[in-house]
Amino acid sequence: MSDETLRQHLEELRRAINDHNYRYHVLDEPVISDAEYDRLLAELRTIEDQHPEWITPDSPSQRAGAQPSAKFSKVRHPAPILSLNNAFSEADLRAWFERISRVDDRVRRASFVAEPKLDGLSVVLHYQDGVFVQGATRGNGEIGEDVTPNLRTLRTLPLRIPVSNKGRKPPSDLFVRGEVFFAKADFEVLNKRQAEEGGQIYQTARNTAAGTLRQLDPSITARRPLNLFAYNIVNANGSVPDTQWESLQLLRDLGFPVASESKLCQNIDEVVATYEKWKTTREGLPYEVDGMVVKINDLGLAEDLGFVGKDPRGAIAYKFPALEVATQLHNIGVNVGRTGVLTPYAMLEPVEIGGVIVRQATLHNFDFIEEKDIRIGDRVLVKRAGDVIPYVIGPVLAARTGKEKKYKPPLVCPVCSQPVEHIEGEVAWYCVNAACPEQLLRNVEHFVGVMDVVGMGEKIVEQLITEGVIKDAADLFSVTKRDLLQLEGFADKKADNLLASIEIAKTRSLPRLIGALGIRGAGEVVSNLLARKYRNLDELTKAKASDIDDIEGIGPSIAEAITDWFSQPANRNLLKKLKKAGVWPESMPPKAPSGPQPFAGLTFVVTGTLPNFSRKQAKDFIEDLGGKVTDSVSAKTSYLVVGEDAGSKLDKAKQLGVKTLDEAALKALAKK
Ligand code: IVH
Repeated sequence: MSDETLRQHLEELRRAINDHNYRYHVLDEPVISDAEYDRLLAELRTIEDQHPEWITPDSPSQRAGAQPSAKFSKVRHPAPILSLNNAFSEADLRAWFERISRVDDRVRRASFVAEPKLDGLSVVLHYQDGVFVQGATRGNGEIGEDVTPNLRTLRTLPLRIPVSNKGRKPPSDLFVRGEVFFAKADFEVLNKRQAEEGGQIYQTARNTAAGTLRQLDPSITARRPLNLFAYNIVNANGSVPDTQWESLQLLRDLGFPVASESKLCQNIDEVVATYEKWKTTREGLPYEVDGMVVKINDLGLAEDLGFVGKDPRGAIAYKFPALEVATQLHNIGVNVGRTGVLTPYAMLEPVEIGGVIVRQATLHNFDFIEEKDIRIGDRVLVKRAGDVIPYVIGPVLAARTGKEKKYKPPLVCPVCSQPVEHIEGEVAWYCVNAACPEQLLRNVEHFVGVMDVVGMGEKIVEQLITEGVIKDAADLFSVTKRDLLQLEGFADKKADNLLASIEIAKTRSLPRLIGALGIRGAGEVVSNLLARKYRNLDELTKAKASDIDDIEGIGPSIAEAITDWFSQPANRNLLKKLKKAGVWPESMPPKAPSGPQPFAGLTFVVTGTLPNFSRKQAKDFIEDLGGKVTDSVSAKTSYLVVGEDAGSKLDKAKQLGVKTLDEAALKALAKK
């Protein structure tokens, strides 16, 4: 392929990847599989590796995160990035309406745009000739921090804006304002991952979003699924819409994610009605919303209305009632999780928060109690957001009487009374007694949940344990009808149904079974990776931590936790019982080698253009002979196969002392 055609192909790839990104992350309507997407991205990276001089800042490959910067440089915004005045009641909102109607009579006939007020942080995005060139935080409204490399990692942020699908060309200089935030589910997943890895639990999505966006190392930002909604055109040359409603449409047409809940209201009464509706539906939204932003639709009128201090008259934040309430902290209890993690929780004077009575709230971990200086007897602020477990924010210091008592974390497990332990580098404290009844209960519950034993709820698991029918999860598979009939609430039919469900659960796949074992760090993703490399639990039992660590996507701490789990006698015993019960799934066997395998155990990277092989042919050639082909050169690479115009990979191989081969030497090596 000539340079010219290769370059054209590169452009096409970029366009296609950006388009798929938009379809996947913004429209939620992917048209290709994840694997196909990965393939396109890998192809793009290969070309860019060969021609680093062709890499442009809007290339989708740049989302992965650039080099860490020492500190953020400052960016002057093209126009003041304003904040908003607040309204806390309908009376406040109507007072605002009256006030601005007196300033300009046209307001009485005006329409409004109601937008969800996202609880994130404001950013300003600059596009030149359709290409994202800079992004900054709001800062003090005039000067913000340049967080461009971090913003590039956001999947929903268009790196290049196409001509709008209504045929409109984007302004050559465009500044867009939007909000960066975590969707509720993404934030929960992030915290679950933190918990599984024994890391810090983040308390508020907003602060975590702010911290994530201001990471000096963009690759950290890239690993956390931040999201974006655009809501204002701050500045643009050329013609821009006259109304806020059309601005939102244009932003959407240009490929920006825009909150679909936004609504055009014909008058202030419709705004009030919309607010009342949103107040009841807000908890069902996939992201946290702390109010409604009401904007005068006519942008000319909004401008004429001017400002009061830093707040424009033409818009207001109509806040939702707080989901934070102060109440009395009576005592602190401690839960024992399935991995033995001890989690303190607050026992509260019951209080209503957003229509739900809250009696308990999590205190996250013992460090949190200490850091916030939370004392028994304190008045504490409690927050409830969506489906998230209510949590304590901190004490109300002004309400202290002096009678509050400092809390001392337990030295022994509150359930089994065995000493608790702290793992170096982790926040959590653990009960390490494998026979702790509470851990057993949580473990079996987890096992039953992942293996999907239909009809077996928490209560039945508890009955089976307290009646001594089961001593670990594997015992479930030897439960008999007689065992079940002796439990309270069991009759013939119920026992038969449950036994049938247990029988079905025996056939679950290997990744499911690995996930069900409850090994720290081995959630769904890691279990799938393990099942891809190891065919059954015998193979996994024998694996060394260094072998597991070799799997891309599994780090050393999880690899260690996995081998540690398989080395425990109690777990070995559990595996023995599972095998005996026939619960021993096999993953699909790897492709049987059809000929000699001289490349077995070797890892290759291919770069540059080879004389006779295409990239795909070279890969097939190596894999057929038992070798593995990866995309990037590391210390684990056995050989770099080099063609013409090899780029940065060759430099990297030289740096790391990785041996290189040309096509002829590769073929010669195969014959050795
Ligand atoms: S418009 C003059 N629209 O709320 C325009 N702001 O309390 C002012 N926010 O600093 C901003 N969602 O960070 C606007 N749909 C939305 C918003 C929104 C969230 C934030 C923004 C602003 C803060 C003001």
